[in-house]
Amino acid sequence: MTIIRGATTIPEDSAEEIKKAVKEMLEQIESRNDLKRDEMMSLVFTSTSDIHSYYPAKAAREAGFAASGSLFSAQEPDIDGGLKLCIRVMIFVEKNFEPQHVYLRGARHLRKDLKPKIKIAIDGPSGSGKSTLSKALARRLGIAHLDTGAMYRACGLKVLDSGVDIRNETAVYDLLLGVKIDISYENDEQHTLLDGVDVSEAIRKPQVAMAASTVSTYRSVRYHLTEKQREIAGRMSCVLDGRDIGTFVLPEADVKIFLTARPEVRAKRRFDELTAKGYAVDFNELLKEIMRRDEQDSTRATAPLKKADDAVEIDSSSMTADEVLEAIMKIVKEKIS
Ligand code: DC
Repeated sequence: MTIIRGATTIPEDSAEEIKKAVKEMLEQIESRNDLKRDEMMSLVFTSTSDIHSYYPAKAAREAGFAASGSLFSAQEPDIDGGLKLCIRVMIFVEKNFEPQHVYLRGARHLRKDLKPKIKIAIDGPSGSGKSTLSKALARRLGIAHLDTGAMYRACGLKVLDSGVDIRNETAVYDLLLGVKIDISYENDEQHTLLDGVDVSEAIRKPQVAMAASTVSTYRSVRYHLTEKQREIAGRMSCVLDGRDIGTFVLPEADVKIFLTARPEVRAKRRFDELTAKGYAVDFNELLKEIMRRDEQDSTRATAPLKKADDAVEIDSSSMTADEVLEAIMKIVKEKIS
C-alpha cells in the first residue's frame, strides 16, 4: 500500500472554487503517479476551518474519483500561522511505489520528512538568462540542472536532419517516437544525446532554435518530453529551466521563478553568445527571431510560456548574472527554510 498526499488552496470559499481545486489536485496526483482511478482505494480530505461551502469528498466523487472506493472529509482546527483556505488529501493506493506528493497553488509541504528532494522551476522567454542562471544556481546548491529546452532542440535538430515537413505534426511525432533522447552529466555539465550521439553543440545552432520552438507547439511532442522531464526530476533534487516548468511540468515545485528581460537585451545576449562561438549572426535578425519565438511559445495551445501564479518574476534587463543569482538565492532561502 502507498499513501500519496496532496494540498491546494482556493481564492475564496465557494462551491465552484472547491470543485475546481479538488479536480485539479486529483488529476495532478493521478498523472504524476501514473495511477488508474480504480487503484485509489480511499481518499481522505481535510480542509481548513474557513472552508464551509462544499465537501471536497463530494467534489471528488463528482469529478469521477473513487467511484467505488471510500471518501471522507473532515475540518481541521485553526492552527496559528497555518495556510488559509487550504484543502488537503491523503490517498491510499493498493500497490507499492515511490509516491509523488502534489502541492499546488502555494500549498506547502509542512512535513520535512516528506520532502527529501528540492525542485526549482525557472521559466522565461529565450535569452532571459535562464540557462546561465539555472546552471549557476544548481552549482551553488549542489544539485542537478536540467535544461529542458535542450530536449526540444534535439527534437528540432532531428526533424531538420530528417527532411520531414516540420509543419506536419503527425509526421513529426511519428519520426520522434522512434528517437531516443537521453540526458547525461559529465562534471556537472548536461549532455544531450540523440540516439546515443552527443548533440550538445549541434543543438545550439540558430536554425535549430526556431525548429525547436515549432515542434514544441505540438501537444504530442510536449507530452512525450514532459514525461521524460518528470521522470528525471523525480530522481533527484534539481533546477529545471524551460517555458512550462512551473505551470505544467512541475506545478508543485518548491520555488518558481519567471525570468524576463527586454527583447533588445535578450537579442544582444544571444548575439554575444553566438559570435563568441564563431557564428556570423545579424543582430536585427536575432531580434526578429526572438520576437517570433516569443509569439509562438506564448500563444501555443498546450502549456504556453506563461508565468505561474505563484512564481516570482524577475526582470534581468539591467542586472548582471551575479545580481540575478543573488536575488534568486534570497528567494530560495526564504522558501526552503
Ligand atoms: O530555452 P531554449 O531556447 O533552448 O528552447 C528552445 C525552444 O524549445 C523554445 O523556443 C520553446 C521550446 N521549449 C518549450 O516549449 N518548453 C520548454 N520547457 C523548453 C523549451
